[in-house]
Amino acid sequence: MASENPLTIVTCTAPVNIAVIKYWGKRDEELVLPLNSSLSVTLHQDQAKTTTTAAISKDFKEDRWLNGTEVDVGQPRLHVLPWVRRLARKHRSTDDGDTPPLSLSYKVHIASENNFPTAAGLASSAAGYACLAYTLARVYGVEGELSEVARRGSGSACRSLYGGFVEWHMGERADGKDSIAQQVAPESHWPELRILILVVSTEKKLTGSTAGMQTSVETSALLQFRATSVVPARMAEMIQCIRERDFPGFGQLTMKDSNQFHATCLDTFPPISYLNDTSRHIMDLVHRFNAHHGQTKVAYTFDAGPNAVVFTLDDTVAEFVAAVSHCFPPESNGDKFLKGLPVRPVPLSDELKTTLALDPTPGGVRYIIATKAGPGPQILDDPHLHLLGSHGLPKFAA
Ligand code: DP6
Repeated sequence: MASENPLTIVTCTAPVNIAVIKYWGKRDEELVLPLNSSLSVTLHQDQAKTTTTAAISKDFKEDRWLNGTEVDVGQPRLHVLPWVRRLARKHRSTDDGDTPPLSLSYKVHIASENNFPTAAGLASSAAGYACLAYTLARVYGVEGELSEVARRGSGSACRSLYGGFVEWHMGERADGKDSIAQQVAPESHWPELRILILVVSTEKKLTGSTAGMQTSVETSALLQFRATSVVPARMAEMIQCIRERDFPGFGQLTMKDSNQFHATCLDTFPPISYLNDTSRHIMDLVHRFNAHHGQTKVAYTFDAGPNAVVFTLDDTVAEFVAAVSHCFPPESNGDKFLKGLPVRPVPLSDELKTTLALDPTPGGVRYIIATKAGPGPQILDDPHLHLLGSHGLPKFAA
């Protein structure tokens, strides 16, 4: 049935981000305000992105999230939607005193997909909610800062609103207006930086971030100490390392902060442990690799799961990938071992093999995704790329 009222339809993409100074713990659950500031690197969207299409029309009867199985738009994390509408209303009334435009009362249809397996353990929620906030803002014509909206979905999502190196200021105000994400440096600032995602497990984590950090806030004295006495100085130091492109400084701080985050998880009661034996093998491998070179050439970080994200520079990627393949000989599990950016194969020196001296664990690392820092959300102009068709229903039904 053809509609007389055409759709307004927008499609955007947003990136995944990996924190090098971790966010763990909220001081306000309702407003999603963090206990401490955090800092992340935005991953390139060629390897990891969410695409979201939002369509509004006078004809739509209700808000619908049309992803395979339809999702309930009333669930708390999808409060991103009323927040975008609220922001749009506010902008209109403060900007020109107009009554809100008619389109604000239109219902929306949304569809979304990732270009990476959710099971890869990447922070898909950060990309997902950043993309949702960004796309809804565009379709309803909202300009301006979207941290407040994106973090309603997932705190870390506000950092996916920008490319390169991004700081989420914890802010001081009780209303959270100053708890916003801000770019520290664009992705072009450090072109040699490379990022390897070592996928260890594709299983869903046992303790989700939201519940895990809640228990940490309630029970971990170390978390309180970290937030007040460690992170503020680390944020300043990390920003300086990034500005100066000081890899050893950046790498050491990244590893220390990851380790402290996992220490607070163990300090939580009952304890939470996200790392497994393979994660610890990877940590050991990184430290031995660095010891062999007499300097920090690679650095690991782990989020709420066993998969490692490794930072290095382009002149070291090939040797480190060879070291990973040596310690975790690829098993043919149907997955290509190296995905993403090409890495030329190099032989490993006997000396390095001896230094690594780890018992090989075949299949411990399932595959590696090679990527680099990338840009923030993008608007896609090509109508072929919309996930919803002209009737506002999915083009590619699952
Ligand atoms: C370990 O942003 O997923 O990845 O705000 O409760 O949705 P909620 O948590 P979320 O937590 C991310 C935790 C982390 C560290 C980080 O990304 O800073």
